[in-house]
Amino acid sequence: MFPTPLVRLALLACLLLSSVAVASEKAILDPEARFHPVVSRGGMVVSQEMIASKVGADILTRGGNAIDAAVATGFALAVTLPRAGNIGGGGFMLIHLAEEDRTLAIDYREMAPAAAYKDMFLDAEGDVDNLRARFSIHSSGVPGTVAGLIYALDNYGKLSLKEVLQPAIDLAREGFEVSVDLSESLQARQKTLKKDPASRAYFYKPDGSGYQPGEVLAQPDLAKTLIRIAAKGRAGFYQGETADLLIAQMQRNNGLMSLEDLANYKVVERTPVCGIYRDNKVCAMPPPSSGGVHMIQMLNILEGWDLASLGHNSAAYIHRLVESMRRAYADRSQYLGDPDFFPVPVSALTDKAYAGQLRKQIDPMMATRSEDIRPGLAKVAGSRESSETTHYSTWDQWGNVVSNTYTLNFSYGSGISVAGAGFLLNNEMDDFSAKPGSPNGYGLVGGEANAIEPGKRPLSSMTPTIVFNPEGQPILATGSPGGSTIITIVLQMVLNIIDFDMNIAEATAAARIHHQWLPDTVFYESGISQDTLTLLRSMGHQLNDKTGVLGATESIQRADLGGDKKASVRYGAADYRRAGSGAAVQN
Ligand code: DON
Repeated sequence: MFPTPLVRLALLACLLLSSVAVASEKAILDPEARFHPVVSRGGMVVSQEMIASKVGADILTRGGNAIDAAVATGFALAVTLPRAGNIGGGGFMLIHLAEEDRTLAIDYREMAPAAAYKDMFLDAEGDVDNLRARFSIHSSGVPGTVAGLIYALDNYGKLSLKEVLQPAIDLAREGFEVSVDLSESLQARQKTLKKDPASRAYFYKPDGSGYQPGEVLAQPDLAKTLIRIAAKGRAGFYQGETADLLIAQMQRNNGLMSLEDLANYKVVERTPVCGIYRDNKVCAMPPPSSGGVHMIQMLNILEGWDLASLGHNSAAYIHRLVESMRRAYADRSQYLGDPDFFPVPVSALTDKAYAGQLRKQIDPMMATRSEDIRPGLAKVAGSRESSETTHYSTWDQWGNVVSNTYTLNFSYGSGISVAGAGFLLNNEMDDFSAKPGSPNGYGLVGGEANAIEPGKRPLSSMTPTIVFNPEGQPILATGSPGGSTIITIVLQMVLNIIDFDMNIAEATAAARIHHQWLPDTVFYESGISQDTLTLLRSMGHQLNDKTGVLGATESIQRADLGGDKKASVRYGAADYRRAGSGAAVQN
């Protein structure tokens, strides 16, 4: 499995040579830089799981474009990264089409079933029943992934559905070597997964023991479902045998989803929400994601300060980040929801003048208390539920770019698999606000804008993002898992690149912080100095000392060679925060 010393030496030499080839042309590969990205003169795919990244890169090598690669990677991750890659969930895909110079957003978020209702997760006392919201047959929204990926391929890809699905079918049918990460995550989630007989059979051995790293996991039922999709397209999932199996599963457990819900699932192509930050255009996912709106709102607030002069991750810098985050997340709780059901004030929230008013409220020396920020709802405790979403980015030789984040919500979703169809169901219904002021799995609160309604999409924080330089060329594709923390993670990636001139590997590795208004706590990764933390405390910030890691960005950056705008390379950085992630390049 592991390369011999000689092969390793050869690999190292190749890596050094490829770096040397461009190092003299761009400071980004300055030999003194502490972190080096993967380099490609052609296309590239970066995802949380290396087998799936290679599937996407192979598609690029065979002449597919970034969209073909993204669809192939998405289906492959549904096999090799079952905790987040999925066909039973949903997500968002941002696409930049080079030739048309157009950026668009594909919304394939789950929809509430027609029989869903506002108080469906409240118990007899009127409190939220978290088990019902997160780990029951009622936790799932109507899955959007298959419809979304097929929509992207049909409208913007070049290859056939069969071509992009074949690698995933092979991986499911023949199996693949279980990674350390997969083995450990299945071990960690076994209590939930083993409660469901189908999940137990799909992800554990007949005697109930787990797969060890290096052992082969085959998923024949999933392979059959993927084959039906390859043969019949959308109808291979939303109708016929797969749909019947899914609805039979619902009916056995009094679930709400029906065949009509599956048939009525709608993909929506939306206009991304874009803002200008220090002359760069930043485009991200619009509602029903809160990501784009609030990232741009925060960038607008921060633009009023010379952040670079404050120093990266200094107390003065983190203080300004936190105060911007606090205000954006307060607004999120009130104004954000599915735009097809609630009039989300996108322009007002992303208006530079509004950001200016918010900036004026910020005392440069003292923390504001969240309870003094409107709209002020009840104090809530943070949640420690295990969570998992996944992001990947693809970039082709023609300059088309895809930034895709999709999810089952928690790690392995609701834990319930569709028996006979081989895939896990999401628990995205928990992203709705089940009761005003009651926190969801990420400690987020909300109200009317994000209340449960039939056919509505739960509010999301997923923030697939593409950044453009002042000349209008894409320079960055990024995104992350992390529930409520996604928006602030992606914000810091953008700031690391634009304000602090980091290369993508350094931007990825840098320690991150997070604040979400409620709870009134600064989450921080290790790597922020003790001096800084002491200063932040003296300014009145409360710090969460048990944060762990924040998210996992899988990003691609473009850089021009020697100032010649016609020649460029791609730099990829997979996030070390998730073992097994990787960047794969087109041959
Ligand atoms: O859409 C959302 O905001 C959440 N369902 C995302 C979940 C997530 O990121 C979990 N990953 N760590």
